[in-house]
Amino acid sequence: MIESNLTPMMRQYRENKERHPDAILLFRMGDFYEMFFDDAIKASKILEIALTSRDKNKEESVPMCGFPHHAASGYISRLLASGERVAVCDQMEDPRKAKGIVRREVTRVLTPGLHEESEILKADEHHFVVALAFQGKDLALAAFDLSTGDLLVTEPPGTALALQELQRLDPKEVLVAERQAETLQAFLDSSQFYVHFVEEWMTEPRSCSDVLRQQYEVQNLEGFGFSDDSAPAVAAGTIINYVRQTRYEAPIHLKPPRVYHLGNYMVLDRSTTRNLEIFTNLKDGGTSGTLLKLLDRTLTAMGARTIRSWTAYPLLDLREIHRRIDAVSAFVDSTITRGELRDALKGIGDLERIAGKISLRSANPRDLVYLRNSCEKIPVVLKLLSGVESELVGELRNADDLSYVAHAIASVLVDAPPVSLKDGGLIRDGYNQELDELRSISHKGKEWIAAIEAREKEETGIPNLKVGYNRVFGYYIEVTKSYQSKVPASYIRKQTLANAERYITDDLKEYENKVLNAQERIVEIEEEIFNLLRTRLLEVIGRIQATASAIGTLDAILSLAETAAVRGYVRPTVHEGDEIKILDGRHPVVETFDSRETYVPNDVILNRTSDQILIITGPNMAGKSTYMRQTALIVIMGQMGGFVPASEAQIGLVDRIFTRIGAADYLAYGQSTFMVEMNETADILHNASVRSLVLLDEVGRGTSTFDGLSIAWAVTEYLHDRADGGPRTLFATHYHELVDIPLVKERVRNFNIAVKEWKDRIVFLRKIVPGGCSRSYGIQVAKLAGIPDAVVGRAQEILSNLEKEELDPGGRPRISRKREPKKKANGPRQGELFGYAGDDLIRELEKLDPNTLTPLQALTLLSDWKSRYS
Ligand SMILES: Nc1ncnc2c1ncn2[C@@H]1O[C@H](COP(=O)(O)OP(=O)(O)OP(=O)(O)O)[C@@H](O)[C@H]1O
Ligand SMILES: [Mg+2]
Repeated sequence: MIESNLTPMMRQYRENKERHPDAILLFRMGDFYEMFFDDAIKASKILEIALTSRDKNKEESVPMCGFPHHAASGYISRLLASGERVAVCDQMEDPRKAKGIVRREVTRVLTPGLHEESEILKADEHHFVVALAFQGKDLALAAFDLSTGDLLVTEPPGTALALQELQRLDPKEVLVAERQAETLQAFLDSSQFYVHFVEEWMTEPRSCSDVLRQQYEVQNLEGFGFSDDSAPAVAAGTIINYVRQTRYEAPIHLKPPRVYHLGNYMVLDRSTTRNLEIFTNLKDGGTSGTLLKLLDRTLTAMGARTIRSWTAYPLLDLREIHRRIDAVSAFVDSTITRGELRDALKGIGDLERIAGKISLRSANPRDLVYLRNSCEKIPVVLKLLSGVESELVGELRNADDLSYVAHAIASVLVDAPPVSLKDGGLIRDGYNQELDELRSISHKGKEWIAAIEAREKEETGIPNLKVGYNRVFGYYIEVTKSYQSKVPASYIRKQTLANAERYITDDLKEYENKVLNAQERIVEIEEEIFNLLRTRLLEVIGRIQATASAIGTLDAILSLAETAAVRGYVRPTVHEGDEIKILDGRHPVVETFDSRETYVPNDVILNRTSDQILIITGPNMAGKSTYMRQTALIVIMGQMGGFVPASEAQIGLVDRIFTRIGAADYLAYGQSTFMVEMNETADILHNASVRSLVLLDEVGRGTSTFDGLSIAWAVTEYLHDRADGGPRTLFATHYHELVDIPLVKERVRNFNIAVKEWKDRIVFLRKIVPGGCSRSYGIQVAKLAGIPDAVVGRAQEILSNLEKEELDPGGRPRISRKREPKKKANGPRQGELFGYAGDDLIRELEKLDPNTLTPLQALTLLSDWKSRYS
């Protein structure tokens, strides 16, 4: 389209659009937001709204679509959810007062990671945008939640851990500098995040440090725990630059950056989180049957977010763990205090997000009344905390009770205000004198009209004279035709009806102006007062946030205490040593399932001196996987600072849990089951530290039996023989050949889950007992499944052949044999010549000097060898 052909309005549209080429521009026209050109084509598809066109009759019509502004939130949410960026272009002046075309400007850009649309935000989750920053060799990551103002910063040691941390944060948008696009391409492609390349200036170290100093009004950044131009400064600064660029201002509710060290938290990578069903289940990806669902009995949104983050970040800092366990412990037995506190928490709304809304100017009168009602509960909560013996609870007790916030709002706003400012009626009577007077004018309208009607009737002597109102003429006096002669000259005729005439008078007009003006002015004054209140609240936003965070912590502690009390958990001892000792441990989730079977508790002892690797055997369905998972979950629960499902638990700190469990559906990622299995196993072998806990569930199953068994055996040996002693490991397997490993590796132990044979059936006892499983019961199960007797009989025969060959004459598992290193280039190739038994024979031969033997001795030796080795 030729620019000169554009109307002034479309030119204005073009100018704004050019500044935001990568966003869908919403152009406010009257009561609608309109979209044009390609934006309209794209949006009409996403929103399923009709695509029309502007200037239909002209040759080059403009594609267009739109939606009413009062329904904008829902439409914008859908655009964001489908990965679009949205620039909102508003009218900057009152169209009635504008001279010429109304001035319009983009007031904010909403992006998938940066918006406050409550339809998308989940109350119990953070909604992060994350910036990745590279400074020389250093790497940092900053995560920001616009809705709560939280800004977290960390420096992952290496890109692998950075990727893991990114997955844990689960950001809705990842910011990367344009110049990094190429280097990071492969990483970003595989990560499946929404990535936005930010302009170069936003990641310049200088601009990043400057914007941080400005935002937080500080001279230098040392107070945050990082220095100017460092990777964390660049990551945090990039975020603030981005926020300022999209919001056109610096939101006040941004909290100062909180630096956290990954080394203080247990590492839970994505596959472990999935396998242990911590946040989502394996069945359908939902939340039922997950650890979080079990632990989250919180009553506030802050509490829900806190417990989620505690679950994602189990602690490694013993002091911090004990502070939490002490706090939980203080509430487990005091049922009454716990109940009262939980009752009080029920009425507390999402203080953090309301604070965010106040700062982003999107809080409406109802939000503030919600804030008031919430704040009114806080003194009750804090009072209930007095006398509770715990360091952490003691700190929470010192939180600001925000009673002045409740007062400030209560004195200004009515108890049940309308949602919109434009409706008026939100400010209390008696708060502002002018407002009261104006209201009385507009409210007293009815009385006033009755008075005028009576006066006019009397003065004119027209008995059926009526005062009425219509939108066209406003107030009027109606007189039927029969009394026309009595109408005074001062009446001005406005309308003629079938049997009456309508008039206006100067009195009526004057009154009308007063009423209409009053209404307009009322809305104006109410808005002013509301904005003043908002400004006062902005000054205490930091204090609201601090109390919100204390309430979140308290709610999470109470939630852990409630679960512990309801489910009969015990207080664990978490210690620096290496032993994990759990007596009568239960799987926290499986034990809650409705089932005919009651849950059978089991012990586990793992340490690095004698019980490092437990080989767990037992038939299908015996409970091997459940046993291993319960051990991992108990460790996680303990290091979160909670109680655990056991009769006693001692937990030697675990820095990371590795799992290699089952064959999950990776087909979508184009990787074979076996490949994934081996990738995960390789990761374990490389990265498990001596403090790690490793769960191996049927490693090697994805390939042929011999290959699989060989790999399983070698993996176990490797973990055992590592120079540093290797990690604590639970290994469930159906290769019952592995039960021979303890014969050759001293810190490997056999356990199996007991079953009982009863009338040709297997009864699951669910009890873990020492020793390898004597039988796999695979053939028995096959028989039950209807395999013909002939096949079953032959299978049994083959099985017994195989079992006979398992051990060598010395009682050592044949499978554990190793090739001796070659001694001399020309020496005999022992293994190949004689097989395994030949090794010993050769050693004897080497020691022997034929010159010292008598013929009889030689003959006796020969016959001895024949009996021993043939
Ligand atoms: N200690 C227990 N008490 C009661 N029921 C249990 C117990 N352990 C496991 N179960 C039940 O047994 C079912 C099967 O357990 P699990 O999947 O752990 O068996 P498995 O030995 O790993 O089987 P497979 O070898 O086929 O993988 C569980 O879903 C659970 O319902
Ligand atoms: Mg299993």
